[in-house]
Amino acid sequence: MTFEYAPALESRAIVSIAPSYGLFINGEFVDPTSGTMFKTINPATEEVLAEISEANQSDVNAAVNSARRAFERTWSVMSGRDRAKYLFRIARLLQERAREFAVLETLDNGKPIRESRDIDVPLAAAHFFYYAGWADKLEHAGLGPNPQALGVAGQIIPWNFPLLMLAWKIAPALACGNTVVLKPAETTSLTALLFAEVCQQADLPPGVVNIITGAGDTGQMIVEHDGINKIAFTGSTDVGKSIQRALAGTNKKLTLELGGKAANIIFDDAPIDQAVEGIVDGIFFNQGHVCCAGSRLLLQESIAEETIEALKRRLQTLRLGDPLDKNTDIGAINSREQLNKIHQLIKSGDDEGAERWTAPCEIPEKGWWCAPTVFTNVTAAHRIAREEIFGPVLSVLTFRTADEAVEKANNTPFGLSAGIWTEKGSRILWMANQLRAGVIWANTFNRFDPTSPFGGYKESGFGREGGIQGLGAYLQSATDSDVHAKGMS
Ligand code: NAI
Ligand code: MG
Repeated sequence: MTFEYAPALESRAIVSIAPSYGLFINGEFVDPTSGTMFKTINPATEEVLAEISEANQSDVNAAVNSARRAFERTWSVMSGRDRAKYLFRIARLLQERAREFAVLETLDNGKPIRESRDIDVPLAAAHFFYYAGWADKLEHAGLGPNPQALGVAGQIIPWNFPLLMLAWKIAPALACGNTVVLKPAETTSLTALLFAEVCQQADLPPGVVNIITGAGDTGQMIVEHDGINKIAFTGSTDVGKSIQRALAGTNKKLTLELGGKAANIIFDDAPIDQAVEGIVDGIFFNQGHVCCAGSRLLLQESIAEETIEALKRRLQTLRLGDPLDKNTDIGAINSREQLNKIHQLIKSGDDEGAERWTAPCEIPEKGWWCAPTVFTNVTAAHRIAREEIFGPVLSVLTFRTADEAVEKANNTPFGLSAGIWTEKGSRILWMANQLRAGVIWANTFNRFDPTSPFGGYKESGFGREGGIQGLGAYLQSATDSDVHAKGMS
């Protein structure tokens, strides 16, 4: 049964949202030369929160030029020790303004305040602290004796973890001495724009961070700009592929963090209650808008029925509703487009003969919502077993042996993450070696830490973010520096 909880609303009084926002170029907010604005909407209420600028080609040029000047005149000639001071300052400001960032993220994205408060914002600060620590120790990172920055990085991020993805991109880039032009996703620009204010507050030299807003066209202008040395992209596999095509034959470096269809594998010796928590966390965290979500549950046959029953009981206690309520587990779907996409894939599951169960949630009248959904009788051929749904929808498959689990888990074009639940340490190690996924969790899921590299295989992309490996993505490799030294570039 579900207990009745009194509402426990986080106040939104702490944030002040301006009616409209300019672009953050060379340390200042400026009006877009396009004069074009678009609206950002609270997905839980459909209320317009603010108007956001759409950057056009001349705005992109201005941002890239500003980043280039800052790279050449300030940031690349500053000592690592001094760069670290700015990064530590940003990290502390994120902590000081944590509640403001959490409320703003929840308003603009629709994710529960519990998650923005306890996960997104603290992890974003942690990334700045972690990479601040590296800024003056780059020559000890095992990446060569005299590692050099790449130059200007163009960074394009999605809407599922707006501030956190910004931190994953900006912190290592700056620590390594690069300057950046970052574009947030068009539905979630507000925390990136608040971060721009934090850069001002930290006295970050103008042009080191430039934040320009807009949709895919603006993103494409960043990708194709000649003044950019590196593109870092997180988002859909289709756009990732188009970026890879656009960069082919250029000198720009590229890292791509794309979609996923992770297997969460439960063996018959796993503690079922804990595993059920891990299943819930794996696919219902952030409404399932998680590239590494455990969207394919692989249950060993002998415990399948019992686990599905326990899971359904648990899902009936999840609370869907106002994301600002501290008791809310499932917030709003970020956009109507995303909700439509989720509904299409749910329909394909119905049409292809999987068996659907939906948690009995009351759906608010306004806003975009999707109740936790579980499909059983799923086969590997079903679309819901192959495509990234990016919503609170779980597809359950079964297996008999560990070999079969590996074969099913790897039977996907993606390879971002996987989960293994078993008491046997030897089996964890064996499985981890067999699974073609960049991140593998054992007896847990969706754990993140700035010290740990994150990234994919196959269509999930390439390059790593986080950890020492994340530094490599923003430094010239030994062979590149040879080329530079010989003046061949
Ligand atoms: P998207 O890949 O279109 O958007 C991600 C970012 O790329 C946004 O900032 C967007 O403005 C930008 N962008 C779009 N087209 C671009 C282009 N041609 N060149 C440069 N930048 C471009 O993702 P979207 O449309 O929001 O979501 C569609 C699907 O993609 C989702 O349903 C989900 O399956 C998947 N997705 C996966 C993510 C992940 O982290 N793995 C994140 C976001 C979406
Ligand atoms: Mg798109």
